[in-house]
Amino acid sequence: MTRILFLGDIFGKTGRQVVRDFMPKLVGEEAIDLAIANGENASGGLGLNPGEAQELFGLGLAVLTGGNHTFRYKDTEKMLDKDARLVRPANYPEPCPGRGWTMAETAGGVRVGIGNLMGRVFINASLDCPFQAADRIIEEMKTAGAQITLIDFHAETTSEKRAMSWYVDGRLGALLGTHTHVQTADADLMPGGLAYMTDVGMCGPHNSVIGMSRDTVLPGFLSGRPKRFEAASKGARLNGVIIDFDDSGRATSIKALNLKGVK
Ligand SMILES: [Fe+2]
Ligand SMILES: [Fe+2]
Repeated sequence: MTRILFLGDIFGKTGRQVVRDFMPKLVGEEAIDLAIANGENASGGLGLNPGEAQELFGLGLAVLTGGNHTFRYKDTEKMLDKDARLVRPANYPEPCPGRGWTMAETAGGVRVGIGNLMGRVFINASLDCPFQAADRIIEEMKTAGAQITLIDFHAETTSEKRAMSWYVDGRLGALLGTHTHVQTADADLMPGGLAYMTDVGMCGPHNSVIGMSRDTVLPGFLSGRPKRFEAASKGARLNGVIIDFDDSGRATSIKALNLKGVK
């Protein structure tokens, strides 16, 4: 049995802090074999800079996945090329810096393929087809020797994520949705052995509008004129999932986490 912790979008300083507060306890008490997180909002709420990526690796996260904010910092492109612990959605049109999947190994020597895809509905219509990219990366991860496979599907709509779950069930170990920053209540095992959740949520300030300060988001809705968003800092929560896999790479359980931080 292999147990993997996957955390939803880490948002700004509050997100990094709540991960720092919970990680040692979670990894110890839950006997986590490998910890992964989506890091696309870890720096100030938008993007991930190389320094803060290193900070998160230092907290015990083996791999950081990305999304629509991954390319905010120019420096991150160089890191995406060099550091195999960082992945970005596989369906960005080529050429594109970085990689769409990577391989990590647990302390027990189990090889885990970790992929990243992005949706096209209401998020970025210019991307390549995520379904065709799923076919490609699942095959590539297995050919490279992955015993367990997992994909972070960074997408806006529940329908695109749900459709993808049926498309990959039977070929993939876990499909975990990110991007909306709101945890859904549908963590489940599918008939073909896929652990699925439409959105695992956000590690960050939940006293906010999906991470940003209410005072900077609400005026835009009320007046129709946008205001510069600022990251919120209160209502820290850690959102994610713990998934168990058997030796064949099939998921045997998925449990959602929604833990209240101190702030
Ligand atoms: Fe996000
Ligand atoms: Fe996103």
